[in-house]
Amino acid sequence: MKGLVLSGGKGTRLRPITYTSAKQLVPVANKPVLFRVIESIRDAGIDDIGIVIGDTGEEIRNAVGNGRRWDVRITYIEQEQPLGLAHAVKISRDFLGDDRFVMFLGDNCLQGGISPLIRQFGSSSFNSQIVLKEVSDPRQFGVAELDDTGRVMRLMEKPREPRSNLALVGVYMFDHHIWEAVEAIRPSSRGELEITDAIAWLVNNGYEVHPYVHAGWWIDTGKKDDLLEANRLILEELVHDVQGYVSRDSQISGRVIIEPGAEVIHSTIRGPAVIGEHTRIINSYIGPFTSVYHHCLIEDSEVEHSIVLENSTVRDLPHRLEDSLIGRNVEIGRSPLKPRAYRLMLGDNSSVGVL
Ligand code: DAU
Repeated sequence: MKGLVLSGGKGTRLRPITYTSAKQLVPVANKPVLFRVIESIRDAGIDDIGIVIGDTGEEIRNAVGNGRRWDVRITYIEQEQPLGLAHAVKISRDFLGDDRFVMFLGDNCLQGGISPLIRQFGSSSFNSQIVLKEVSDPRQFGVAELDDTGRVMRLMEKPREPRSNLALVGVYMFDHHIWEAVEAIRPSSRGELEITDAIAWLVNNGYEVHPYVHAGWWIDTGKKDDLLEANRLILEELVHDVQGYVSRDSQISGRVIIEPGAEVIHSTIRGPAVIGEHTRIINSYIGPFTSVYHHCLIEDSEVEHSIVLENSTVRDLPHRLEDSLIGRNVEIGRSPLKPRAYRLMLGDNSSVGVL
């Protein structure tokens, strides 16, 4: 079996964080979502993985490299424009050949346990296997309708009036019949070749599409609150591991990861939380469900239920920072300048709440 990871697209919903960078590389619990996807595929016993890249391809190549770190071989497939998930499959035909394959969306985060399912598909007789999850608002996803015997009856992409609450999770498995399907379908009203339509074509043409309802959690990390939620869920499963320096007058409680080279000085860390490599926490409080990535400085401040990306500084804040996603190379702090005022430089589409 081969693996195909979709990491193209523009990621506009997470702007400005992903305005110039790939949303698939935003870290959750200090590991990019894309790396978690590669690990799930590798754990299914697949070592030949193609990654579809778009505008942010350069950054993805630099971060992932040739895959040796995971003992897999990575092939990059360039998609000139994000013309849809089925289009991404179409342009990957040379790489995939007639092998069975799993396609994983590079921004989807799933609770463990999906790898055995992928492995089983390799030796099954199904033409396709889809992963479904019950959700409260199916309108923003592909939706599957099953009949009384549990067979897939109908599939719709982002229906206005969903007839079921089973969303298509971003993990799909196919055999070579998918090639007929992606050739047969036409662009949807949003102008994309939808993978949901290709799967519907398989169902309508008598191919066996096996639905699997995923019991664990699943998050499409497209928006800030979804990222914070994925961060919270992954941190729940964290295994305590302190490798960095913790000064004697600091307090660590709950499950915490302090990565190598990090320093915690005269501070309190209340887990679950993770402090990245070479990050310094000085005279501060880091509360539950917080991930601070590498080379950051948090000084005289309190941060809780937040993600802070690399090389950022949070200093001297009079109030606690909560429910926040802070980008790369950001500086937040008090200014001695008079008159007392907020002085901000924010990217497009930023949102800031002040007291
Ligand atoms: O997350 C699950 C949902 O993913 C499914 O329920 C939907 O049926 C499916 O269409 C998809 O919906 P989204 O609208 O959320 O897909 P999005 O545009 O966010 O793209 C998903 C990933 O695929 C993302 O990592 C970018 C990448 N991509 C997307 C397009 C449109 C590509 O690599 N090429 C593309 O042309």
